[in-house]
Amino acid sequence: MTNEQVANAMRAHHASMVEEVRQRTEELWRTATDWGHARHALARYLQDEILPHARAEEGTVYARGQQIPALAGLVRSMRYEHEVIGHLTHRLEQAFDWHAAADVASRVAELFAVHAGKEDRFIIAELEASPDANLEDILGGLREELAGETHPPA
Ligand SMILES: [Fe+2]
Ligand SMILES: [Fe+2]
Repeated sequence: MTNEQVANAMRAHHASMVEEVRQRTEELWRTATDWGHARHALARYLQDEILPHARAEEGTVYARGQQIPALAGLVRSMRYEHEVIGHLTHRLEQAFDWHAAADVASRVAELFAVHAGKEDRFIIAELEASPDANLEDILGGLREELAGETHPPA
């Protein structure tokens, strides 16, 4: 795969995760009376998809990005945002009422959308254009995750 193909698959995967978090957050705002299920659905998605993605990314894309002087500071701040997403996920799980849960859901959805946008625009774009960065090799552990994006089920 070319760098452009891998970069496009990574951006598509981000877009689908952002959309999934957004929809689950909207569902939580819609279900004030039976909000526990919607909170659980969002919290599970964050625990099962978003946080593992973040960990895999730290060992692959971020590890390579950090070696590029112009990206090192940004990558540090992105790791910090992963931590904040983790804290917000915990707060969502602990929320004692619907409004508190919906409020923290909106915060984590907004942060994740901005975070993924930064990865697309500043980290992936930089690596994609870098002649000595082979995105396919860098991905390593993220490759399986991306397989679903490059070969969508019929
Ligand atoms: Fe990330
Ligand atoms: Fe990401």
